[in-house]
Amino acid sequence: MKIMVTGGAGYIGSHTCIELIDAGHQVVIFDNFSNSNVEVVRRIERITGTAPLVVRGDVRDRDLLTTVLATHHCEAVIHFAGLKSVAESVSHPLLYYENNVLGSMRLVQAMKDVGVNKLVFSSSATVYGDPIFLPLTEDHPKSPYSPYGRTKLVVEDMLTEVAQSTEDFRIAILRYFNPVGCHASGLIGEDPLGVPSNLMPFIAQVAVGRRPHVNIFGNDYSTPDGTGIRDYVHVTDLATGHLRALEHLGRQDFLQVNLGTGRGSSVLDLVRAFSKACGKDIPFVFSARREGDVASYYACTDLAHQLLGWRATRKLHDMCVDTWRWQSRNPNGYDIAPSQASA
Ligand code: NAD
Ligand code: WQD
Repeated sequence: MKIMVTGGAGYIGSHTCIELIDAGHQVVIFDNFSNSNVEVVRRIERITGTAPLVVRGDVRDRDLLTTVLATHHCEAVIHFAGLKSVAESVSHPLLYYENNVLGSMRLVQAMKDVGVNKLVFSSSATVYGDPIFLPLTEDHPKSPYSPYGRTKLVVEDMLTEVAQSTEDFRIAILRYFNPVGCHASGLIGEDPLGVPSNLMPFIAQVAVGRRPHVNIFGNDYSTPDGTGIRDYVHVTDLATGHLRALEHLGRQDFLQVNLGTGRGSSVLDLVRAFSKACGKDIPFVFSARREGDVASYYACTDLAHQLLGWRATRKLHDMCVDTWRWQSRNPNGYDIAPSQASA
């Protein structure tokens, strides 16, 4: 199948492109490179032996989307493109509504313009907000606490209504928990701009000597070791979840599914697992809780297994080993001279 992958140069998109290409699909990456590096495309080619088609474009540009979908005869779209910083969404909410909501609307309009009827959308466990019960099932009430989270819920609602009102428009909404890890080759990985706000890339930068210590945000939560608990899921498992979802759209018109492991790990669990994976101590200090953080959440994964036959297979140790391989071989991420690129 020929698939447009919006945001295909980003962290999760690039890993998904590899799994798609390895499964025999053709991909057209559509990305404005606002949060990614063109080097990613070369690395995808090195890993798969196939150069993906790339279009530099913005998902707010309906005419360009229409042209690209038609010219390349795309049969489906996986839609990763968007902005994802919770903190930035608080200071720049309109930027988030424009990129995430308007961008998704333009994409669906363009798909309708040319008759492309299969869409997989990147949503987030953040749509649930503070858990009322655990594990989080797909029907848990939704109450996102940030503008970012609300943009995801608005798009989910819009897509639900599009699916209900449009015959044969097939949509899979995937709610990711905490994606971490990197491709096993160590050639592609997570490369945040500036200071990482997420835990795993922060730990990795401490391990490689770019930062002195990890700040652990709170050790007084009502969890076994007092630190926050999350459901970390390996990005390659997440990528294969997209393939299963795409296949499932041949059988079902609409689905909303969690992609997580179903297991919670604390901040200290992750620090210890990373330390074991890289063979070094990871210095940390306890600091105040981060505003907006909840104590604990993890997925109920029954529906993903039942509908998609999908389960995450990689453990916390694999997530840390793979992250360390990427970070130690690419200490400054993609922003390096070609001669220093990972061998
Ligand atoms: P990322 O920033 O690495 O990738 C997003 C890609 O989209 C980047 O390559 C960026 O350049 C591109 N992009 C952004 N705005 C665009 C626009 N207007 N037009 C075209 N391209 C644009 O992020 P990621 O971690 O790979 O996340 C991918 C998707 O998954 C996002 O929608 C994100 O909200 C969602 N998600 C991510 C996480 C996470 O923790 N990483 C968790 C849940 C959901
Ligand atoms: C994990 C745990 C922190 C950094 C975010 C988004 C969510 C989704 C995934 C997109 C928490 C603690 C963190 C640090 C720390 N993204 N922590 N020191 O907050 O669960 O989810 O990414 O959809 O929407 O909110 O992930 O990696 O930031 O934090 O102690 O330097 O690590 O308090 O307990 P989070 P995270």
